[in-house]
Amino acid sequence: MNIESSMELGGTTLGPEDSHWIGDYRAVHMNVFGTPLRVMDHGSGTRIWDVDGNGYLDFLGGIAVNSLGYAHPRWTAAVADQAAKVAHTSNYFATEPQIRLAEKLVSIAGAPQGSHVYFGNSGTEGNEAALKLARLYGRTLMDGREITARSVPRIIALTHGFHGRTLGSLSATWKPAIREPFEPLMPGVEFVGSGDIDAMRRSFDATGQDGCGPVAAVILELIQGEAGVRPLDLDYVKAVRRLCDERHALMIVDEVQTGIGRTGRWFAFQREDLSGGIVPDVVTFAKGVAGGFPMGGMIAFGQALSDLFTPGSHGSTFAGNPLGAAAALTTLHVIEDDGLLENCETRGRQLRDGITQCGNALFAGVRGRGLLDAIQLSHPCAHAAMEWALDHGLIVNAVAPDALRMAPPLIVSESDVDEAVSILARVPGDLVDD
Ligand SMILES: Cc1ncc(COP(=O)(O)O)c(C=O)c1O
Repeated sequence: MNIESSMELGGTTLGPEDSHWIGDYRAVHMNVFGTPLRVMDHGSGTRIWDVDGNGYLDFLGGIAVNSLGYAHPRWTAAVADQAAKVAHTSNYFATEPQIRLAEKLVSIAGAPQGSHVYFGNSGTEGNEAALKLARLYGRTLMDGREITARSVPRIIALTHGFHGRTLGSLSATWKPAIREPFEPLMPGVEFVGSGDIDAMRRSFDATGQDGCGPVAAVILELIQGEAGVRPLDLDYVKAVRRLCDERHALMIVDEVQTGIGRTGRWFAFQREDLSGGIVPDVVTFAKGVAGGFPMGGMIAFGQALSDLFTPGSHGSTFAGNPLGAAAALTTLHVIEDDGLLENCETRGRQLRDGITQCGNALFAGVRGRGLLDAIQLSHPCAHAAMEWALDHGLIVNAVAPDALRMAPPLIVSESDVDEAVSILARVPGDLVDD
């Protein structure tokens, strides 16, 4: 850390260049993210450097985005090559990377014959698409129901779930502080206690109010990422699947954070210990899919569901953009070619074991799968712990007041994990959040 003319920001210490740039940032950016902790300049592999030249081992990976780390040679070459060929066409046209990517996603999801992909640009857009599909499904396809075109099919979402911040996805996002200021939101969304199958059954049984019809879909994350990396109970997940089957409702699994290798499988629903082998009806994805290029979307399982979207049902100018598609296709190929799913499983286990055994009394436990993990702190000082780690060269994040999240690139090495654990082992136990 260059401490010459450094300044304190919250509990962290900034160098002179960082301080200067952060002032400029604040002058022109709406304050939705708070003040940036650093201004970053460049990265390589699992490391990133700020404008003062300080290097950091990145155990957050742009929040589960930078699957291949920074400046991976195959990724940068694929993006540069595609940029030199064609960076964008309208959706009046298609491109090869987009077609190959959709084929690849259907294949790695093990989705049945007739499954189709919709591409958007972010996680929230993947979920918007899934919610719109559920509306159409609830108005047309649900078996054994009285359906009127004007009734509003209901959607069940879980407490502590996070699905994005655009108005549709926000309707299914639980955290009151970020949802309530924007109400009224999409009608027909009901929250039930995460893990409480009886509550979900009651919600299915209840007659919808204010013109709302039967429940068309349940949307959930198998590991509630923003809630602090909290896996759902396995029996609960299986019971939700059964309930959806009995009531002809869709099970939408939001894999925006857990998907594309993050948990050591392509998708978390493919982990027996998270899903018991259930198959979703819709999977949404984003974050890690394009290794840092903005992309998201959904996979609708099966022909009948896929056919609900017809020209005009949905779209976006950049949907399936060839630059993003090339970035994503290469990301998937590198994950496959370099055995990164296996690496994710092995390094994840090493990380959780290391944290468990490191002897830091501040750590009350560690949870997660693959490389999506959180340290439970014995008291709520996650923000201070995150800042302390940053000042000591490690990026993690305070995902809850008492939990630190780790989601490093899938390329992370054994020595990277050892280094991260050795820094975390030294986080002082007497930190307090402001
Ligand atoms: C599970 C889940 N769904 C949806 C989103 C929203 O994704 P985005 O920020 O790309 O819109 C997130 C973001 O953290 C997420 O974790």
